[in-house]
Amino acid sequence: MVTSTLPQEKEVKDFMPINGTDYVELYVGNSKQAAHFYKTAFGFQSFAYAGLETGLKDRESYVVIQDKIRLILTSPLRSGTEIGKHIDTHGDGIKVVALWVEDARYAYETAVARGAKSYMDPKVEKDEHGQVVRAGIYTYGETVHIFVERKDYNGTFLPGFKKWETPDYNPAPTGLKYVDHMVGNVGWDRMNHWVEFYENVMGFKNILSFDDEDISTEYTALMSKVMSNGNGRIKFPINEPAEGKKKSQVEEYLDFYEGEGVQHVAVATNDIIKTVRDLRSRGVEFLRVPDTYYEAVTDRVGQIDEDIAPLKELGILVDRDDEGYLLQIFTRPVEPRPTMFFEIIQRKGAQSFGKGNFKALFEAIEREQELRGTLH
Ligand code: FE2
Repeated sequence: MVTSTLPQEKEVKDFMPINGTDYVELYVGNSKQAAHFYKTAFGFQSFAYAGLETGLKDRESYVVIQDKIRLILTSPLRSGTEIGKHIDTHGDGIKVVALWVEDARYAYETAVARGAKSYMDPKVEKDEHGQVVRAGIYTYGETVHIFVERKDYNGTFLPGFKKWETPDYNPAPTGLKYVDHMVGNVGWDRMNHWVEFYENVMGFKNILSFDDEDISTEYTALMSKVMSNGNGRIKFPINEPAEGKKKSQVEEYLDFYEGEGVQHVAVATNDIIKTVRDLRSRGVEFLRVPDTYYEAVTDRVGQIDEDIAPLKELGILVDRDDEGYLLQIFTRPVEPRPTMFFEIIQRKGAQSFGKGNFKALFEAIEREQELRGTLH
């Protein structure tokens, strides 16, 4: 059963104000090639760099940007590093979900006083453009949140980074605008633990819940609760596996990631047909639902602005809720292990997550699991 909680009247002050997502950092085997991939395939732009040329000895990072989305791609420069161990255990994956705040020390101290485990004490970083304060806490698995305070900074990205310019190769953007939500996969019976973490430590609210009846196919099931911060700019659905006849996608993720972690990053566009057509032509691979999905789509969602033909051609899914509708599509995993992937989403009023598509989507995932030999 789906349960939803509408945002309450502002009865309590938000003790953890967050302006938005600041950046997402991935630990990857080859940051230089990953940066090329995100430029070429997803239309990100060269933005900033840190490494040997900026005085770092142990790591190299490329930062790519598209509108409000900033990705840091980081690789170690030698053996035996924390980054290297992270990649050995998890494969390429998301280490940091950084949150933009007005006061990083306050955010960190509040979170730690409320039970968060420290990852990084508050650190002031300076250069000729001012200063940034950063501090970090652990969330599920080895994933961390870093609070970023940049009100006294007017440089490109962060102190320690230089501008990364590539005059000869700058593929056009694909219309990706901002991070809409980021989903975490957690272990058996761990969803409510992390729901309480986001409530008690971060001041988030549980705005939607899906039980295993909502999210199940003939073979597999999972449960999910959506956590939102006070202003609604940060949404973190948390998934856990549920009992089914066969191994669910969440279990497959946990096996291959060797722990809990970020399952997908949903990025918003204002024109999903144009964006997805562009991404496909650049080699991004998407999950496909059967063509029969489109026979019933108009009956299910009613009138929409888009023609069904291009949606069917591209495999874009549609769902409606009380407030409007949304269009969405999911990439295949973007690394060798079947772990992290992206969602492309266009919201036309709807603030939900595509419940009406869960079944078709999870059956599509099961077909891929079958090919990988992990559906058993
Ligand atoms: Fe999503």
